[in-house]
Amino acid sequence: MEYENILVSDREKVRIVTLNRKSPLNPLDMDTLREIKDAVLNSENRVILLHGANRAFSAGADINNFMKLTNDTAGIFAKEGHDIMNALSSYPRPVIAAIHGYCLGGGFELALACDIRVAHPDTTFGLPEVNLGILPGFGGTQRLRHIVGETLAFGLISTGKRYKASEAFTYGLLNEVSENYLEVAMKLAEELSKKPKESLRLIKHLVRNAPDDMFEEEIDAFGEVFAYPDREEGVKAFLEKREANFQD
Ligand code: COA
Repeated sequence: MEYENILVSDREKVRIVTLNRKSPLNPLDMDTLREIKDAVLNSENRVILLHGANRAFSAGADINNFMKLTNDTAGIFAKEGHDIMNALSSYPRPVIAAIHGYCLGGGFELALACDIRVAHPDTTFGLPEVNLGILPGFGGTQRLRHIVGETLAFGLISTGKRYKASEAFTYGLLNEVSENYLEVAMKLAEELSKKPKESLRLIKHLVRNAPDDMFEEEIDAFGEVFAYPDREEGVKAFLEKREANFQD
């Protein structure tokens, strides 16, 4: 597969995947996510280090595409997004996210599908979908809840709150916060690439598999929310650079 939205380089047993969209905040469209999946699955079992070029890890799913989605096509979109995120979370080797700038919406969901997250202190995190009249549709409702617990996850997702790396660290969302986030992540990737392969595969399987996941329901809910007028208002308001005026 030819890559247009990512850069890929291999350093011994580590594959570095760089999000490199033309837009500086690396919005994620499906082509980009497909490229990430392909680069991970065809990495010959290397440890993966995923990071963003330019100003951000990623400011989320590409909002420009949201005006075109209906409640039928939004469900299909979410299902493919889930399949891609699941490919990362079930990939047998560790996947490390090195995060800076913005890590929002689908970008944050991508980071949540990774096994380890290292961030620069200035990074802004959040799942702000509610402010667009939609909800997280790439596994974020479930993965955030599994990591931080139900109380905190509901508070964060229902308000769309944004927060910095120090707060994300206290929630248990980050393994490390460092000005040298990329170096730290690379060192960790190299360390993990030397560990016994089958032990790591089984540890990942045991730690990452949630027994009570609601992924299917999240896919249905993401489709459903696109049937409501507040979604159109939320997305339009963002594109028109104004505050959304929701119905009720
Ligand atoms: N999808 C598509 N484009 C996006 C985007 C997204 N998720 N996030 C940012 N952009 C675009 C902006 O539209 C803008 O494009 P333009 O230069 O053509 O006008 C460009 O990236 C820079 O964004 P801008 O808002 O001007 O930068 P900023 O530094 O003032 O603010 C953010 C940065 C991240 C706070 C702001 O862009 C934002 O809130 N983005 C949306 C985040 C979001 O809701 N993500 C969840 C999506 S499901």
